[in-house]
Amino acid sequence: MDTSIKIDVASVAATVSRQQIDALLPEAVQAMKTVETGSGAGNDFLGWTDLPTRLSAELVNEINATAESLRKECEVVVSIGIGGSYLGAKAVIEALGDSFGAYRHDCKGPQMLFAGQNIGEDYLYELMDYLRDKRFGIIVISKSGTTTEPAIAFRLLKELLERKEGKEHAARHIVAITDERRGALRQLATEEGYRTFVIDDNVGGRFSVLTPVGLLPIAVAGYDIKELIAGAAHMQRICSAEDYESNPSLLYAATRNALYRAGKKIEIMVNYNPKLHYFGEWWKQLYGESEGKDHKGIFPAAVDNSTDLHSMGQWIQDGERTIFETVLSVEVPDHEVVIPSDSDNLDGLNYIAGKRVDQVNKMAELGTRIAHVDGGVPNMRITIPALSEKYLGQLIYFFEKACGISGYLLGVNPFNQPGVEDYKRNMFALLEKPGYEAETAGIKSRL
Ligand code: PA5
Repeated sequence: MDTSIKIDVASVAATVSRQQIDALLPEAVQAMKTVETGSGAGNDFLGWTDLPTRLSAELVNEINATAESLRKECEVVVSIGIGGSYLGAKAVIEALGDSFGAYRHDCKGPQMLFAGQNIGEDYLYELMDYLRDKRFGIIVISKSGTTTEPAIAFRLLKELLERKEGKEHAARHIVAITDERRGALRQLATEEGYRTFVIDDNVGGRFSVLTPVGLLPIAVAGYDIKELIAGAAHMQRICSAEDYESNPSLLYAATRNALYRAGKKIEIMVNYNPKLHYFGEWWKQLYGESEGKDHKGIFPAAVDNSTDLHSMGQWIQDGERTIFETVLSVEVPDHEVVIPSDSDNLDGLNYIAGKRVDQVNKMAELGTRIAHVDGGVPNMRITIPALSEKYLGQLIYFFEKACGISGYLLGVNPFNQPGVEDYKRNMFALLEKPGYEAETAGIKSRL
């Protein structure tokens, strides 16, 4: 298998020279070694590093068999989870799916829906209303087994399914993915007799897409998880090389840190394919939760172009010069659409008649990159040949490995997330959760 992912950092040269990036190599290799030898902070969360080559065929077959039974028996499967227990599967399914799959009546497998990623009352009401006359199943995912958002969604959907079909049927159509021993979800799954998969202790949520957390929903949606894993395994093999030419994750991690040190504090992940919107969301979580610590970190943002060229485009071209861009580009689309000629040419588009839509899209991308570089926005470009399981698997591992290296280059522990506890403490205090009496008194005195 060829390397497939290509990364081009030439267009950062006005801010950081190639010599500056090269000078960072020893430090970047050191950071990579810290990941690989487990000698840094957060080293109890490195189970993802060899996951693609460690996943057993038995587990993958079990995931596929479970997915097959849900596919056969359900019209709709709702995957419940938030953060790392949601975004990886959502990103891959959106990238591989038909943009109008939700409106088609001829789809072979079940419709894949998501819940527990918000606490929107209307969202949950409308979801339950939609499910009322559907044969549905549930995949409930929570590593800790105690996260409030998915717990609320699960309580509601479990009750709906049990009321609709009976407890026994519900138990056969619920799959829980959680910690092997701890947490409320594990206890519930054991008591109710759900099928379960385990999230390893040493794999953090945002690095868990290649565990059952991501693999089961992706398989239920009908995609080839073996190919996804094979793509990631290929990247795993090449992403420990100690030079920029053969290890794209090293080059990406070093370049973004060189830019950060040169005052570029915000990285914008840019796609020119709407199917990659959620890939940008997954990437934002991976980098945001891993790096934003100790008052440090590149702020990860994302835009969908050319859509956002008509909104954020102004800011990017002309706003404060603290940003850099990483363009994620897909070389060849799945389908071909040619712009027709029109004898009246009232819209003036005949100059592009006969061209594929993607040719126009690529020129929008190139024109924008040049304009942004001219406007003081350094630009990296990452390309994959096509949107397929194999290349998405490569991309996932590439970004994960680069994230570990980058976090250590930045000087933070990339594998914890102490900051996400603060909102929970306040929310529990405001909701008067038992055990939070002192916090409740404290927060209420401030209102
Ligand atoms: O990356 C992380 O660890 C987090 O984003 C978690 O995935 C998220 O908070 C959900 O946690 P859990 O799976 O325990 O419900």
